[in-house]
Amino acid sequence: MTIRPVEPADETPVKKGAAIAESRAALAERADEIAHLWRLGAETSLLARRLAEFRGAATLHFDEELKYSREHGGDQPQRLADYTDMIGKIDRVLTDFAAGTGIHWFQMFKAVRRFLPDPAVEEIDGDLPALTSHADGQDALIAWSADLELGVKWIDRHHRALVDTLNELARLPSWCDQAETDALLERLRRTVWHHFHEEEARLSKGAEASEHVAHHRDLLAELEQLIFDVRSGRADLQMVVRGFLCDWLVEHIQTTDRRDFTR
Ligand SMILES: [Fe+2]
Repeated sequence: MTIRPVEPADETPVKKGAAIAESRAALAERADEIAHLWRLGAETSLLARRLAEFRGAATLHFDEELKYSREHGGDQPQRLADYTDMIGKIDRVLTDFAAGTGIHWFQMFKAVRRFLPDPAVEEIDGDLPALTSHADGQDALIAWSADLELGVKWIDRHHRALVDTLNELARLPSWCDQAETDALLERLRRTVWHHFHEEEARLSKGAEASEHVAHHRDLLAELEQLIFDVRSGRADLQMVVRGFLCDWLVEHIQTTDRRDFTR
């Protein structure tokens, strides 16, 4: 993917406007690339580097756009507030990454998309990161069965990917490399975030929807804590996977999801 540099605006109003549009398209392309990397499961350090570059390019762009807007009677305070809000959200994600989490990723990406409504920023919400799906082995911790199927194609695919990841975690031998465990835990975390985000985008309004979202927040907090405990050696991976995550997922599917997505 080729990233066009953000160039300073030209002198005449028409050229200046065109240069700003081009710079905006270049920003959209950068954002698109970062979203692709996220979906592919790129390391947080790489995402953080690209996001910091995006932030720098966006700041240059905002300066030019604000200057242009000032000269053409645009709504300066509103634009400035929008830009500040977006940069603030990027900074929160960079702080998350430094802390080993990424809980604000989707809010940040939505803000970026609002700011760049036109061209290239792709839907991040459509597909899961590349995942394998081999949940059917006889030794599987959770066997995929009719009880877990809700009959909604996208949601069953997400749940199956989660089941698959838990089964892979359960199969890890005690002597396995820490990097392998970390990679699977990271895959679990991102798949859960993505899945909850997709569900929340499709929930209708109402008390049950609010309850469902609150349920997601609780589950995410528990998941973050468990991952932290495993990584820091405070909890045993297999105890967590077999003793908690398995029930956690099955209950999520069979209670809130069955109630809210199958009627
Ligand atoms: Fe679900």
